[in-house]
Amino acid sequence: MIQDIIQISHEAGEIVREGFGKNFGIEYKTNEANLVTDIDKASEEHIKEFIRKKFPSHSILAEEGGKTQNDSEYLWVIDPIDGTTNFAHGLPIFSISIGVQKKGKTIAGVVYDVMQDITYSTEAGAGAFANSQKIEVSANDNLAHSVLVTGFPYNISDNPENALEKFTELTKASRGIRRLGSAAIDFCYVAKGVFDGFWEVYLNPWDICAGKLIVEEAGGNVTGFKGEEIDIYSKRILATNGRIHNRMMELLGK
Ligand code: IPD
Ligand code: CA
Ligand code: CA
Repeated sequence: MIQDIIQISHEAGEIVREGFGKNFGIEYKTNEANLVTDIDKASEEHIKEFIRKKFPSHSILAEEGGKTQNDSEYLWVIDPIDGTTNFAHGLPIFSISIGVQKKGKTIAGVVYDVMQDITYSTEAGAGAFANSQKIEVSANDNLAHSVLVTGFPYNISDNPENALEKFTELTKASRGIRRLGSAAIDFCYVAKGVFDGFWEVYLNPWDICAGKLIVEEAGGNVTGFKGEEIDIYSKRILATNGRIHNRMMELLGK
């Protein structure tokens, strides 16, 4: 199945790469910060068409089109462009994220970094890979030596969960924080050891599904802010190399 997921992420990637920097329609979703472009819709439609043909019985949860519930153990969880704001503004940091669950457990996932042409992939129990090379989280156990990454939900003007205060606190406690604009890529950079930790509130299942398993299979830890087990529907996500997890929990769980 992983080869199918990789193939379809590359096909969708072709659509997204082709559309990058061109004129495309943009609409607002919940507010003026929350965009959807024609290319998000075209990417999603292409991925769904593939699934409908090859796995017609499977259920689908996709960002732009919602859920198609079939009588199946399998659920495909799809973000057709993760990083739409970057995409719409000409910043080449965005990805396609596809995770597959069986009976509620993620069994495989792919995050395709479209402009760098890097395919992050995993199957439960089989490790995590970037373009077929095995990846691992960093060995750093000191938060003061850590580079972290985060993001903000589209309702950040309401400052949910004191996200801005936590950003300030972790900026002071670490070597620095980056805000890339694609949660799926944030997870993969933790998996690859580029960043030591990633946290965010109010992500959606399609932001989390593939990336969470990629971090876990690269040896990292993904929980809520109090260390609790989470699933793709959880609203507080902390993904680290495992070694700085407790220290980040202390600062985030307050
Ligand atoms: C967004 C990105 C961003 C994160 C937002 C997400 P989208 O996804 O992952 O990094 O901070 O919370 O909604 O809307 O570009 O698919
Ligand atoms: Ca997303
Ligand atoms: Ca998206």
